[in-house]
Amino acid sequence: MSARPVIAALLALGIAGCSVAGAQADKAETTSGKARADLYQCEGCEGALESDADKLTPHSQISGLGEPGEPLHIDGTVYATDGRTPMPGVVIYAYQTNAEGLYAGGKPGTEASRRHGRLRGWVKTGADGRYSFDTIKPAPYPDDTIPAHVHFTVLEPGKRPYWIDDIVFDGEFGVTDAYRRSMTNKGGNGIVKTTRDAAGRWAVTRDIILERHPE
Ligand SMILES: [Fe+2]
Repeated sequence: MSARPVIAALLALGIAGCSVAGAQADKAETTSGKARADLYQCEGCEGALESDADKLTPHSQISGLGEPGEPLHIDGTVYATDGRTPMPGVVIYAYQTNAEGLYAGGKPGTEASRRHGRLRGWVKTGADGRYSFDTIKPAPYPDDTIPAHVHFTVLEPGKRPYWIDDIVFDGEFGVTDAYRRSMTNKGGNGIVKTTRDAAGRWAVTRDIILERHPE
């Protein structure tokens, strides 16, 4: 599905948008090694600022232990723009749908907390650049417009937050050739391989390569 119908569908649903928009322009800028002109254009990235970065750790639980759904472990390493140097101290803000594909249970207070539902979490990468989340596996939106996904926003010290490509699950609903072509590799590849870990949980690795900043 192209980005335009996806956006139309999201607007119709009043659902937090996804990072498929602006794909082709982003690719051109990335391959030229320049900062993306639209790096800071995203919905709800201010949610990354809703935590006290000084108190964050490299691991967080997104969903409550009683949240319906299949347990999912997400981990990865955040790298500098060279794709090799691990980056400590980077905040990652994650939010996702529940097992019914809904951003449910949001609370008034901030726009992001109201729109993104209760399944939100924050981590800060450790000295080795690593992070992890425990959560449940999200479901696609109820209208099955796009794949199940987890939104990631990154916040580097002293910088503005920005969205990166969503986590989507390779081989599952909606991860088509067209969807792959629509991806911008913002923050690196968001299409992850799903495995089972020793504890029987779904497990994925989403490494992140930081973007160049316009300023
Ligand atoms: Fe979404």
